[in-house]
Amino acid sequence: QTITWTASMAEKGGYKHFMLKEIHEQPRSIADTIRGRVLPDGSRIVYKEIGISYEELALTKKIYLVACGTSYHACLIGKYMIERIARIPVEVDIASEFRYREVPFERDSLFIAITQSGETADTLAALRYAKKSGVKTLTICNVVGSTASREADGVFYTHSGPEIGVASTKAFTSQIVALYIFTFALSKAKRANPADINEIFLSKLFHLPTMAEKALKLEDKIHQLAKEVYKKPNFLYLGRGLNYPVALEGALKLKEISYIHAEGYAAGEMKHGPIALVEEGFPVVFIVSDDLYLEKTLSNMEEIKARDGFIITISSSKEEKLKKLSDRFIYVEGINSYLNTVLFSIPLQLLAYHVAILRGCDVDQPRNLAKSVTVE
Ligand code: G6P
Repeated sequence: QTITWTASMAEKGGYKHFMLKEIHEQPRSIADTIRGRVLPDGSRIVYKEIGISYEELALTKKIYLVACGTSYHACLIGKYMIERIARIPVEVDIASEFRYREVPFERDSLFIAITQSGETADTLAALRYAKKSGVKTLTICNVVGSTASREADGVFYTHSGPEIGVASTKAFTSQIVALYIFTFALSKAKRANPADINEIFLSKLFHLPTMAEKALKLEDKIHQLAKEVYKKPNFLYLGRGLNYPVALEGALKLKEISYIHAEGYAAGEMKHGPIALVEEGFPVVFIVSDDLYLEKTLSNMEEIKARDGFIITISSSKEEKLKKLSDRFIYVEGINSYLNTVLFSIPLQLLAYHVAILRGCDVDQPRNLAKSVTVE
């Protein structure tokens, strides 16, 4: 038996779409981001390549994380990581806002632009503004030799390989991994944690590719779920802490490729507006880690349940109450709250993908969107 492959099928590695291929590439792209940066026992982080010295990192008193789109969501995750682990205050902003804000930079600040392409006009403008103000700049970037990588003082390449699908998937999870490694580099330089804590956290990173592989096995379950919900006109995504940006990204993914109206919210803000929308069958996706937020999230779920909303839960917790409150429960084996952001993003990407396909949308080239926005 022979299989007839067209050139385009070969490019997509046998997958129907680039987006699906890129979702499935994540165990490898994550491993590529980790490779060479840190040893498996977590004992050594390689600083040299990023172009910012250990001494400079040690002096850093404030960090600005700036980006657009999906990369902005990675910035928000970075804020939680850096503030908690390296104990340095972080400000996050959208590049189109930051560039005109006339920010009074504090001394010994570090500006970080996160950009897959390295060509987003607003992100470049924000980067140039920081440089002109005399602030040290770094970019977390995927495209080697891109404008951002040439102009920033330092580059942390994500090395996740070319991303063709307009909706970012593997580039996003690699940005999170890069931020995780960078956070521990900072933490070591600042001596924010005992050395062994850093090593324990870093060694966990080596489980991530295998765990991402496991998360991908949820695809059939997610496909079934997509069949149940693809006709819904609105979705709400809720999370707390690190899962708040994951909720924002889940909603953005769905909106971008399926054209369903979707909003991400911090679960604690639910009562300040979004709950007004909830009625029978209204889909609410909860993203829940097994951490200090679990109890609080359960009470948010009860409120949705009381209004007959349709609760979809993506969680690393097996808490009975959580399962009971959920109409559909997707268990994702977790690692820690930081790395779970990567693992939870995978089923959310798959949900957006399958819903969009069921609605007959062009997932690789969604209407009105561009892979990189090079004009203001
Ligand atoms: C566009 C793309 C998004 C991307 C954003 C930022 O909107 O469609 O997927 O997240 O630009 O791009 P960057 O290359 O700067 O990460």
